[in-house]
Amino acid sequence: MGIKSIPDDASRRRRFKRRLLRWFRAHGRDLPWRRTRDPYRILVSEVMLQQTQVARVEGYWHAFLARFPTLADLARARPARVREAWAGLGYYRRAANLHRLAREVVRDRAGHLPRTVPELRALPGIGPYTAGAVASFAYELNAPAIDTNVHRVLRRVFHPRLRAGAAGMRRLDALARALVPRRGADAWITNQALMELGALVCTARVMHCDRCPVAPVCRTAASQRGASATRATARSRSRGST
Ligand code: ADE
Repeated sequence: MGIKSIPDDASRRRRFKRRLLRWFRAHGRDLPWRRTRDPYRILVSEVMLQQTQVARVEGYWHAFLARFPTLADLARARPARVREAWAGLGYYRRAANLHRLAREVVRDRAGHLPRTVPELRALPGIGPYTAGAVASFAYELNAPAIDTNVHRVLRRVFHPRLRAGAAGMRRLDALARALVPRRGADAWITNQALMELGALVCTARVMHCDRCPVAPVCRTAASQRGASATRATARSRSRGST
């Protein structure tokens, strides 16, 4: 199947999403932060996951929340105790920002994390990705959450020739929004599934197209199939001519 035979836009997005969600329901990992809708617990997981692998984060996440079970507990903590709980995870600035965030939210909002993307983004250490992740994972809002994994998956599947830069990012952002048209459980599972595909199948180092649920609708997989078919034809031609 060549690129041209893949229908574009809405119908391709629909097929992509149907395949992605079916795969995620069968193969998605049972991670502890996927079992909660508590915004504070989700925020802590997302800040830890910003630069650290899932396997390392799990233990730290449980230990951190045992020490600081609520945002108010974190706000009250001495900086040295926060630093201690983070030791080993690295990029300590993340913890310092999280601590500052907790203090601000307790001071200005009676300890309640905001429920909209723009308000989340205004908090210390929260960029567009983390704001979208908390909005969709805690509040099930239909916000895109494009981390490096999701960026890679969307680019490979839909826009393999996309250039780096702001215009490309706007394009992926619009696509990610189109994939989560409604708030609710659908927004939650779509964003989790996109991340999971990037973590387990469509990785930075290897594209496992042979076991990828969305390979039939993927432009990069299609061009690879095209390239290997061309190589096979060339091989059989050259064998035939000798
Ligand atoms: N990386 C960032 N957020 C994640 C999540 N919710 N699950 C797995 N990996 C992630």
